[in-house]
Amino acid sequence: MATIVVEVCAGTHCTMLGAMNVMDAIQSLEELRGEAPGGCAVEVRAVPCMNLCGSDVHGPFVRVDGALLENAQSEAVMAAIMVRCGRPAEG
Ligand code: FES
Repeated sequence: MATIVVEVCAGTHCTMLGAMNVMDAIQSLEELRGEAPGGCAVEVRAVPCMNLCGSDVHGPFVRVDGALLENAQSEAVMAAIMVRCGRPAEG
């Protein structure tokens, strides 16, 4: 089974922009289903500031298997997880 690594920036800037909501949403998904749609395991990590908060792009920042998402809202992160699992995002 493939494991998808989701790194959520837990720095102050991203936390203020809702990074912990993203983390909660992903963890709820894991708790509800045990695995992401499509049969992939998901490993969620809170990581220190990615040093992107001074740039022109906006947080919160999340990496899904190394691919950076900026302004990462829960729905976009879930969609990225599903795409990585080989399933198109629904809706
Ligand atoms: S706090 Fe997230 S990139 Fe700096």
